[in-house]
Amino acid sequence: DEIMETALRVRGLSIRKLQPQETPPYDLLLLADPSRELVNAYIAEGECYIAEEQNDSIGVFVMVPLTNGTVEIKNIAVREDKQGHGIGRKLLQEAIEIAKSNGYKSIEIGTGNSSIDQLALYQKCGFRISDIIKDFFVQYYDEVIMENGIQCKDMILLRMEI
Ligand code: ACO
Ligand code: ACO
Repeated sequence: DEIMETALRVRGLSIRKLQPQETPPYDLLLLADPSRELVNAYIAEGECYIAEEQNDSIGVFVMVPLTNGTVEIKNIAVREDKQGHGIGRKLLQEAIEIAKSNGYKSIEIGTGNSSIDQLALYQKCGFRISDIIKDFFVQYYDEVIMENGIQCKDMILLRMEI
C-alpha cells in the first residue's frame, strides 16, 4: 500500500557528503534559496550533503557551524517531483543525527514568514520558534518573494536542543 511504498522509497535513499571537487547541486539548492550568492557563501563555510536514489540526486541539505555548539541547517530541499513523500523529514532527521554525533548541543533552522508548510514540518520534527529577524528577506534579496499569497519579509528562526 501507499504507506509501505513510501517507507521503501525512503529506505532506498542514501545520503553522503558532497566531495570538494564536485559541483554543488544548484538545481536543488536554489529551490530552497533563490540567492546563488548566499548559497555559495554558506556552502563554503559548511558541509553540503546530497541524498541519492539510484544515482539520482533528489535531495540536499547544508549544515554550517555557528558559535556555542550550535549548527544551522542553511538549506534543505527535495526535488519537486519527490516532495511530499517523507524525504524532507528523513533529511531533517539525518541532519539532527549528524549534529548529535559531531557533539553539537543545539541545531537551528530558519525560514520565511510565508513558508507555512516548512514551518509545519520543522515544528513536527521538534524545532521551536526562537527568534524573528525582521525584514531579513527585504534587506538581503533583490526581488520580492511571494509565497502562499504572503510576502516573505521576516526570517523565522527555529531551534532544538539535542
Ligand atoms: N500543515 C501541516 N503539516 C504540513 C503542512 C501544513 N501546511 N505542510 C507540510 N506538512 C507536513 C506534512 O504533513 C509532513 O508531515 P508528516 O510526515 O507528519 O505527514 C511534512 O510536513 C512534509 O514532510 P515531507 O514529505 O518529508 O516533505 P518534503 O519531502 O516535501 O520536503 C521540503 C520538505 C524540503 C520543504 C520540500 O518541500 C522542498 O524542497 N521545498 C522547496 C524548497 C524549500 O522550501 N526548502 C526549505 C527552505 S528553508 C531552508 O532551506 C532552511
Ligand atoms: N495558506 C495560505 N492562505 C491561507 C491558508 C494557508 N494555509 N489558510 C487560510 N488561508 C487564507 C485563505 O486563502 C483566505 O485568504 P484569501 O481571502 O486571500 O483567499 C484566508 O486565509 C481565510 O479567510 P476567510 O475565509 O475569511 O477565513 P474564515 O472565515 O474561515 O475565518 C477564522 C478565519 C476566524 C480563523 C475562522 O476559521 C475560525 O473561526 N477559526 C476557528 C477559531 C480561530 O482559530 N480563531 C482565531 C484564533 S486567534 C484569535 O482569536 C486572536
